[in-house]
Amino acid sequence: MATLEGRNISAWFGDHQVLDRVSLTMPAGVVTSLIGPSGCGKSTYLRILNRMHELVPSASLAGEVLLDGEDIYDPARKLVDARKDIGMVFQKPNPFPAQSIYDNVVAGLKLTGTRASRDEKDELVESCLMKAGLWKEVKDRLRAPGAGLSGGQQQRLCIARSLAVRPRVLLMDEPCSALDPTSTRVIEETMLELAHEVTIVIVTHNMQQAQRVSQQCAFFLAAQGTPGAIVEHGDTDAMFADPIDPRTFDYVNGRFG
Ligand SMILES: Nc1ncnc2c1ncn2[C@@H]1O[C@H](COP(=O)(O)OP(=O)(O)OP(=O)(O)O)[C@@H](O)[C@H]1O
Ligand SMILES: [Mg+2]
Repeated sequence: MATLEGRNISAWFGDHQVLDRVSLTMPAGVVTSLIGPSGCGKSTYLRILNRMHELVPSASLAGEVLLDGEDIYDPARKLVDARKDIGMVFQKPNPFPAQSIYDNVVAGLKLTGTRASRDEKDELVESCLMKAGLWKEVKDRLRAPGAGLSGGQQQRLCIARSLAVRPRVLLMDEPCSALDPTSTRVIEETMLELAHEVTIVIVTHNMQQAQRVSQQCAFFLAAQGTPGAIVEHGDTDAMFADPIDPRTFDYVNGRFG
């Protein structure tokens, strides 16, 4: 588990600036939620935190991302290490559809060049599926394709796949927005349990969800024609009950966005 810190992060697509000097510390052992209206740069910020932003051809950035004090953009550090330490779960579940449930979970080992014996893999698959709250439902069909699972199960499979490379931070970009309320509840319970072993950052448009799962919250906003920035951040309960900035008050009370 590690503390992740974004320092003065700015981001551009071509010459369009979408984030302006955004700083946020996401402490170890805490779930941090990022909230704010569509287009204010939440996903871009998340992608910068694990070096996915640079995959977009026109994209550029400034600032630093520190994982327990070490800059993940340091040229001496390998890209694959950043992605291994800082996992990501997306809005739309994206298991490898033709691969089995088992192979989906261990897929990350190949990518990170980690060797494991058959027994080690069996153990890893079981423990990651347990942590993701999926084991009971799939233990008798580990060889069936990932595509055969429901949307909520596929999302938990993706969480299990992320956990298999033992990340220190897990970034989740609206992980429940495509799911029904029951699957959402299961994933929220999973997150609360995982919070003991991995630092979690979640983007959500669901204000109740932010309050249920996160202890720290950051409110992003891009005012008309300006890049996104954090208006306010702090203890989640305080931000919802008694925000400092009137724009935060309006947003968390559903007045816009
Ligand atoms: N690949 C891209 N190329 C060009 N512009 C992009 C790209 N991705 C995002 N943007 C722009 O960057 C800004 C921030 O987008 P981003 O996806 O980070 O917002 P968001 O807060 O995650 O929104 P949402 O809540 O709708 O997911 C937007 O103006 C968007 O149009
Ligand atoms: Mg987004």
